[in-house]
Amino acid sequence: MCGIVGYVGNKTAADILLDGLTSLEYRGYDSSGIALNIDGKMKLYKAQGKLQNLRNIIKNDYAEISKSTIGIGHIRWATHGVPSVENAHPHTCNCGKVAVVHNGIIENYKELKAKLESKGCHFKSQTDTETVAHLVASKYAETQDLTEAVRLATKEIEGAYALAVMHQDVKGTIVATRRNAPLVIGFGEDENFVASDIPALIQYTKKAMYLEDNQIVTLTSDSAKIIDINNNPQTLKTETLPWEPVALSKMGYKHYMLKEIHEQPDIVRNVLTGKLKATDEQINLNEVTLQKADLKELKRIQIVACGTSLHAAMVGKYLIEDFCEIPVEVEASSEYIYRKTITDDKTLVIGVSQSGETADTITAIRLAKKKGSHILIITNRPDSTMAREADSLVPVNAGIEVSVAATKSYMAQLISFYLLAIYMAEVKGSINSEELNELKHELIMLPQKIDKVLTNKEEIQKIARKFSGFKDFIFIARGINFPTALEGALKLKEISYINATGYSAGELKHGPIAMLDDSMPVLSVLMKGKVYEKILSNAEEAKARNARMIALTDSDDIKLDDLFENIIHVPEISEILSPALAIVPLQLLAYYIAEFLGKDVDQPRNLAKSVTVE
Ligand code: M6R
Repeated sequence: MCGIVGYVGNKTAADILLDGLTSLEYRGYDSSGIALNIDGKMKLYKAQGKLQNLRNIIKNDYAEISKSTIGIGHIRWATHGVPSVENAHPHTCNCGKVAVVHNGIIENYKELKAKLESKGCHFKSQTDTETVAHLVASKYAETQDLTEAVRLATKEIEGAYALAVMHQDVKGTIVATRRNAPLVIGFGEDENFVASDIPALIQYTKKAMYLEDNQIVTLTSDSAKIIDINNNPQTLKTETLPWEPVALSKMGYKHYMLKEIHEQPDIVRNVLTGKLKATDEQINLNEVTLQKADLKELKRIQIVACGTSLHAAMVGKYLIEDFCEIPVEVEASSEYIYRKTITDDKTLVIGVSQSGETADTITAIRLAKKKGSHILIITNRPDSTMAREADSLVPVNAGIEVSVAATKSYMAQLISFYLLAIYMAEVKGSINSEELNELKHELIMLPQKIDKVLTNKEEIQKIARKFSGFKDFIFIARGINFPTALEGALKLKEISYINATGYSAGELKHGPIAMLDDSMPVLSVLMKGKVYEKILSNAEEAKARNARMIALTDSDDIKLDDLFENIIHVPEISEILSPALAIVPLQLLAYYIAEFLGKDVDQPRNLAKSVTVE
């Protein structure tokens, strides 16, 4: 949520900041801004709306702007104050010499603001961030040292933040710090970078260091000095980033979302590599550090997650209960944290998150950790806050996901849950190995089946075009595909703004059926297995109310032709693995509907890729 980039070196800072902000645009996009030191003067450029608006402003003044080789930039997802130029970062103090960009929330900003106002500070925005600019300026007035001013300011700030700060009089220097919000430093030849996420750096350098909470870095073009909040010097620990810049390009696809949907066969192969070697070999999941004896004794598992990750967790519950016979509770992290949470050292708590930075989930796992639970994290970002908090870390290796609508990370989370459930079942000996070997074989074959669905995309595109004018949509399923219905509906509403809801098919008759008539498409996820006939009956009930019937199925039963107006066929697959195949056409359906409607697919309104506020 929000993005920060800072540059100090010998190149045109504005170009690097704009490139960096472009690659962070998926984190927020309601306004943006940069601060540059031009000929010894602090200059701010800000715009409301998409980054292009800032680009246009900068273009008009480029001759002047291009002289600056130092700057900080920000892309915003509004929390305090409406999206506007006044509220866009960077923020500055009364004299305009300090510029600050900030991700996170300053929780005690009201108290700080009152104190600063009583000392004569004039606030121009409604943001919490502006307090930091005034606070740093007042500390600088006392100390004449920017690093010290930032250090003293952070002692008074409560909340979560990643900050980058410049002062007009402290030439060629950026000071940056973090607490509960990510920040990474990038090292180049006579140039250094700071950013809230890797995509902003990766095209310039792969040499980087993740800043720890309460560390403060002072960056110039040829140095990076780190201290902690108590002024103790810290060691620079650089690492080589595993990402390639090409991973962040669209590779010829119109949108990142479409590219990421197409990456899924490879994602499945990646997740399985090294873990599932042969169908008759046990799953290798060294990442689970919970002792096998403790695992056998587990009395309960809780899984916390949000959004799409929550849907992956729901499939995970089904798998673990089915294979291991351990009761599993799944809960939205935001609900888990505000009630009496019962957990203990006999409970395994699993946090699932693409970004590893979702505030609700971080709070939930911290709460469980305090109560003694083993924390297992399934995340796509081994460099994230959640990964650092984990007792066991299962990285899902989906590569950086740029589109705000999660697709390939969901697939990777699902596959991780299959591996985890099989691993646990093998440790517990709770299921016969033939059944598991069959599933392993199917997992190995899954990428080919996904490929087949992807080659059938024109069919899905036609259905999308036909149904793109509807205002509401219902997705129904049962059993292990109930989360598929929820995820299909979430994808559609996120990027097309159509009112789409997923229901357990059996629940339709208990209320939602009242909404059905010929203005309501009902999509049935109808995969062969235990609940196939039941869903068919529920679909009949919908058809009898004139709903517009669509099926997603691996069945070639000709009876379906009478019941459904349109049928999306997928290759045959076992019911237990079917969520990993059935979701792909639903992602494509949502994508094509949004595309026909001319929506901003990769950056849907009001959303951000990583939600770092509770
Ligand atoms: O990074 P996380 O997986 O923790 O994020 C959770 C949700 O915010 C996320 O899945 C959100 O629902 C996506 N926009 C779904 O496409």
